[in-house]
Amino acid sequence: MAAVALAVLAAGTWRLADLGASAEVREFRGSYPAEARPRGAVHEVTLTAAPATVPLFDGRPLAVWAYNGQVPGPVLRLRLGDTLRATLVNRLPQPTTIHWHGVRVPNAMDGTPGVTQPPVAPGETFVYEFTPKDAGTFWFHPHLRASEQVERGLFGVLVVEDAEPLPYSRDEVWVLDDWLIDASGAIFPEFNTRHDLMHDGRWGNVVTVNGKVGTSLAVKAGERIRLRLVNVANGRVFAPDFGGLETRAIAVDGMYAARPLDPAGYELAPGNRLDVDVTIPAALRGQRVAITDRFTGRPIVLAEIAVADDVVETPAFPSPARAHVPQWHDALAEPVRAEYRLNARTGGTFGIEWTINDEAFDHDGHAGDHPPMSVLPAGAFSRVRFTNLSYRLHPMHLHGQFFKLLSRNGTPVDEPHWRDTVLLHAQETVDVGMVPLDLGRWMLHCHVLEHAESGMMTTVEVRR
Ligand code: C2O
Ligand code: CU
Repeated sequence: MAAVALAVLAAGTWRLADLGASAEVREFRGSYPAEARPRGAVHEVTLTAAPATVPLFDGRPLAVWAYNGQVPGPVLRLRLGDTLRATLVNRLPQPTTIHWHGVRVPNAMDGTPGVTQPPVAPGETFVYEFTPKDAGTFWFHPHLRASEQVERGLFGVLVVEDAEPLPYSRDEVWVLDDWLIDASGAIFPEFNTRHDLMHDGRWGNVVTVNGKVGTSLAVKAGERIRLRLVNVANGRVFAPDFGGLETRAIAVDGMYAARPLDPAGYELAPGNRLDVDVTIPAALRGQRVAITDRFTGRPIVLAEIAVADDVVETPAFPSPARAHVPQWHDALAEPVRAEYRLNARTGGTFGIEWTINDEAFDHDGHAGDHPPMSVLPAGAFSRVRFTNLSYRLHPMHLHGQFFKLLSRNGTPVDEPHWRDTVLLHAQETVDVGMVPLDLGRWMLHCHVLEHAESGMMTTVEVRR
């Protein structure tokens, strides 16, 4: 932090009050590192995006677009300090990019076309290389025509393990998704329909975990499992109910919470991740436990945990927790530095466009066409407000940064964890607090991909 403060002083753009003297900045210190600490190991991977036919749902072949021929795409596992070198090969009939959701990457590696890189044309390649600064559950997906490309199957998970992983009996990734399948059994081929745009994006008629309907995780009684939930759906929100299992949420959006939380009722919006620490009691030997989504009035069984008859010893260790998350009790007294008003209007390519501060993002623009809607000073505290003027859901996601929820509709909220995506309900106003550390031009958008595609996206610059 000292180095950041000095650099900012030199640039002369900070107000004196921001120079580490603010109570919020002082309380922020020690939250997470400003820089990566590469330890020299490089993981090389090639991700080929191409049409493929894969057995999904109940095993029927489905024509998809996939990374390396699999849906979900590969789970990339790194250790904190490892460097990822991922070569994207585009064999799609469209340009694409890869965005590393939630990872604090150097800005040029963020995968946002027209802002941090040119689109990767069919037949071309692009090399992404970065060392994650944080351990946790992240994911990757295209950032170009995402409402179509993600829906067709382009997504994968990036797990950054702790420098010393905890001795869980197993570490599982559950990719939650839904698919809109037409009468012929294919992916419904019209994207960004008027219906999707007027509602909460494209909600499917088939809900899957790891691409399957009826996913079953076979475990032994006594096992202690780290379950990493990732919502890759275009629009659907999940509220997982663990059916009476002993569960604690330990991380949200990749980052450990200050203390283990009760995951009951947690709304996992598109883009969000939730890591859950689950212990299977011996009493459940031979039983099956359903994990059910209860976000809508109609419960949907997501998956089951099938407990074998054998009992193993439960690994005993305290649930992981982040040493420090600021409380920012007085942060609501700080001025609002930026406000984003979310709304819709008629017009644009799809007949309806979603706007931020009455502007619809131009996806065909080039770098110079996207001046930042706001500038946030690096290393200083910013209180940022989202005001939902509409009746639809908007999971708002900011690239390259973490923020903390401060209030909903003016009522203070103390979530003991960071986020990179916050869900706004109808007509809701949400304030968040943040101390941006990662410099560059970052996307701010709704993660309902149809809303983003029809304009609900902008850029924010973090600058010294
Ligand atoms: Cu998953 Cu621009 O984000
Ligand atoms: Cu939205």
